[in-house]
Amino acid sequence: MKADDYKHGIVWMDWQHADLIKEFHALHEACEKGDSALAIMKSSKTLERYIEDHFGLEEAYMIKYGFPDFKRHQLEHLTFRQKFKEFRETGLDREAKVGSDLLLLMVDWIMKHIMATDKEVARFLARKGVK
Ligand SMILES: [Fe+2]
Repeated sequence: MKADDYKHGIVWMDWQHADLIKEFHALHEACEKGDSALAIMKSSKTLERYIEDHFGLEEAYMIKYGFPDFKRHQLEHLTFRQKFKEFRETGLDREAKVGSDLLLLMVDWIMKHIMATDKEVARFLARKGVK
């Protein structure tokens, strides 16, 4: 999974997605080496920032340009936000399991949301002239 494979043609969206995918790879590598404690904390911080910055910006664009499927898209954001909150509440004391849980959460999001739902938004925004 390379960051370039996930470009939808909207500059800020692609940049934020690339950041998340880079973080996923770093965590995956750390888990493989069996040294994931620091990477888990770093990835959690990145996800926290991604949820705040990226969701907010994407939703603002969808509202501004009248994206027709906004409610469904926003629900996916809310669901992911909730899943991540639950993940954080499980605590970071079970390092190996937490690392694999976080990887699963991230890969599921990348494949189902970034690759599908966000692509629809990107196509819609591109038609409206957003870069
Ligand atoms: Fe999204």
